[in-house]
Amino acid sequence: MQINRRTFLLASAALVGLPKASLAAPFILRAEKITGQVLPEGDGTTQLLGINGSSPGPELRFRIGDMADLRFENAIGEGSAIHWHGIRIDNSMDGVPGLTQPLVEDGKSFDYRFKLPDAGTYWYHSHNRSWEQVARGLYGPLIVEEADPPKVAHDITVMLDDWRIERTGEMIEDFGNRHDFSHAGRLGTFAKIIPSVNTVRRGDRVRLRLINVATARIFPLEVTGLAGKVVALDGMPLSTLQDIGPRMLAPAQRMDIIADVTETVKFIFPTRQDPYELGEISVEGDNPNPIQTEIGILPKANVPQPSGSADRVLTLTLQGGAMGGQHSGDDLWSLNGVSGLQDAPWHIISRGETVRIKLRNETAFPHGIHLHGHHFYEVNADETLGPLRDTTLLQRQESRDILCVFDNPGKWLLHCHMLGHQASGMKTWVEVT
Ligand code: C2O
Ligand code: CU
Repeated sequence: MQINRRTFLLASAALVGLPKASLAAPFILRAEKITGQVLPEGDGTTQLLGINGSSPGPELRFRIGDMADLRFENAIGEGSAIHWHGIRIDNSMDGVPGLTQPLVEDGKSFDYRFKLPDAGTYWYHSHNRSWEQVARGLYGPLIVEEADPPKVAHDITVMLDDWRIERTGEMIEDFGNRHDFSHAGRLGTFAKIIPSVNTVRRGDRVRLRLINVATARIFPLEVTGLAGKVVALDGMPLSTLQDIGPRMLAPAQRMDIIADVTETVKFIFPTRQDPYELGEISVEGDNPNPIQTEIGILPKANVPQPSGSADRVLTLTLQGGAMGGQHSGDDLWSLNGVSGLQDAPWHIISRGETVRIKLRNETAFPHGIHLHGHHFYEVNADETLGPLRDTTLLQRQESRDILCVFDNPGKWLLHCHMLGHQASGMKTWVEVT
């Protein structure tokens, strides 16, 4: 594992020259309360939850096939657990308290050891009282490099977040309020990008790994100042490259871009008034030897392929919420009329079964539906298979079918990644046996 230089200069400097075997294992991720700089330097600070002293936590960088060996030390003052979002992981390491592991109490630790089967852009975040712990900053990037990564001048992680803070930087402590939960969730008052590199040269080929870590905000996003392609979504390589053009990034979704820098790289949130600038990567100088090769597709992921049509077809109807949402569950939101996790799974699926899930959003709000432990295909209207994803965005009243080969045994959550919706009913689970 390599540690991001930006956050871990001291640690990595200290390790220079040491043989690999003497690297201390496991690597420690210590979560605690920190003071962070959300607003621009010079403005007020914000009380956050960080890992190893910062929010976002350190960038964890692996190579495909590596074993992660991480010790989560919880010192935040309440129980927590860490979920490794998007990793096709061993179920016991998935980080869901009450389903895959006990809660990690304050002052206690938990060892996560798991294999990284796929290259791509992933992230980690708290999975306990996540609508508050993630909103306070308990997350970080998890990058898995290809065996032979495409050549770029800079591999840059760009996290997008919003925070509900006062102009002084002070956190507004109204977490978990039912009004937010029943509407679009806890939207922030301030949004920005957190890039791992701040300056590039004109002509540099860059890989941008965008990660939306907000608890509720769907980012409409335009990236300007470069020419290139979208090469992966939710960590998974696209078989046909897509244009960078304006698009939506739902909570928890990721997007990898490979492109050549032409001018200052701007991240723009288009609004009805003036576009809101989430931040930029500035340009200094020219690259005398720009990479000339064409931007190609990434090596295909080794995920199980559906064999023809589905072995089983299920319907999952999203219901509830404000603005007239009706349902028979006992909380604000429901899936098929049931709010929250039941003792029994929604379905027991035999290992290897291909399941088509018809997602039907009957509510007045968008939802980003996330499946743990697997990736699934979005099914296009013409029945062709769209991209492989782990989180799919359904606009209000929208429907979409997904197709998944459930090959990973265990208990897996299926929930809305608007974390207030998840907390107030919009979640269920399946068991793969
Ligand atoms: Cu990214 Cu169940 O979560
Ligand atoms: Cu939702």
